[in-house]
Amino acid sequence: MSTERNDPELVYLDNAATSWPKPPCVAEAMRRFLDKTGANPGRSGHRLSIAASRMVYSAREAIAELFNAPDPLRVAFGLNVTDSLNQALHGLLHPGQHVITSGMEHNSVMRPLRVLEARGVAMTVLPCAADGSLDPADVEAAIRPETRMIVVNHASNVCGTIQPLKPLGEIARRHNLLLLADTAQSAGAVPIDMQADLIDLLAFTGHKSLYGPTGTGGLVLGERVDEAELIPLRQGGTGSHSEHDEHPPFLPDLLESGTPNTVGLAGLGASVRWVLQKGVAAIRDEEQALVSPLLAGLQETPGVKVYGPGAGKGRTATISLNIEDMATSEAGLRLDEEFGILCRVGLHCAPAAHRTLGTFPAGALRFGLGIFNTPQDVTRVLAAVRILAGGR
Ligand SMILES: Cc1ncc(COP(=O)(O)O)c(C=O)c1O
Repeated sequence: MSTERNDPELVYLDNAATSWPKPPCVAEAMRRFLDKTGANPGRSGHRLSIAASRMVYSAREAIAELFNAPDPLRVAFGLNVTDSLNQALHGLLHPGQHVITSGMEHNSVMRPLRVLEARGVAMTVLPCAADGSLDPADVEAAIRPETRMIVVNHASNVCGTIQPLKPLGEIARRHNLLLLADTAQSAGAVPIDMQADLIDLLAFTGHKSLYGPTGTGGLVLGERVDEAELIPLRQGGTGSHSEHDEHPPFLPDLLESGTPNTVGLAGLGASVRWVLQKGVAAIRDEEQALVSPLLAGLQETPGVKVYGPGAGKGRTATISLNIEDMATSEAGLRLDEEFGILCRVGLHCAPAAHRTLGTFPAGALRFGLGIFNTPQDVTRVLAAVRILAGGR
């Protein structure tokens, strides 16, 4: 059995879990860093340490440019979006406060919120429509005097629904709340402008549609977030203020204790520059050019049920479906073994979203397309699904 993407046998449709392949510049940048620089950034002051610091800063600048962040120093790198969401939620929400979220969240939001709830933070989970969309009017109606934050999944990892952030940002500003966006599935795939979209906290992961390596991600803080109110999840060495036992209060050091994933950041800097060069709008257009025929073909296949929004502005390139009377696990296994099509089945770490879509507990089959998929992939996938749906 082939296990390499370049083998024409395989169609990789698991980009919503992690994108693959990566642009060649990513591995090149990582290798170059390991071979030529290697040192610890912000620590030692010698030329290689300074080169490493410059590389990390340049990755910060690339992220700031991508999201139109107010300042590269308000980009705090972390392990992944889960880490950064935990940082934002645990760092800012306290017992007695209230947080509003949606019925489309990933467990990376839901689970930290449930822990906070057990500690006395009240939470409201707003139901979404059958296509996964959240009505901003429901958000405004749920606000209480003690509400502190709205947290939403920008793009669903299950069915691709995009929540418009700006109306939520306007509500947040009207009521003096913070808006936290989980951009795991949208960063690099949907144009995001933190300042125009009124996002206060933007959590991202490097390894999905930013096409970077795993183990990279971060939290970008807008100007309305007062870092003095943000409790860091970790304290420790930062290379700064070494004369003090106390952790530095300034960004990004406040949120970046310990040696970072420097090799990963070399790859992330390269991948984000690659995304910037291609242009997020162009990436989105290319992906939508595959999504439209795939969705249309699936929708007209008897025995196939597709979830989420139709083709167009309101969705990413992630599609969920079920084949009538076939367990998702069987469909996924047969797509892999008989057709070389790799996708993800089940609940996708988002049981709340599956409840909203009516696919809990059985789950769904998910096709997560990426920039390296082709029209030929779409043709092969449609042919395979037609066989599975018809040939039983
Ligand atoms: C919407 C959403 N949030 C959070 C995550 C968690 O991402 P990571 O594992 O990179 O922290 C994912 C990944 O599947 C996701 O799709």
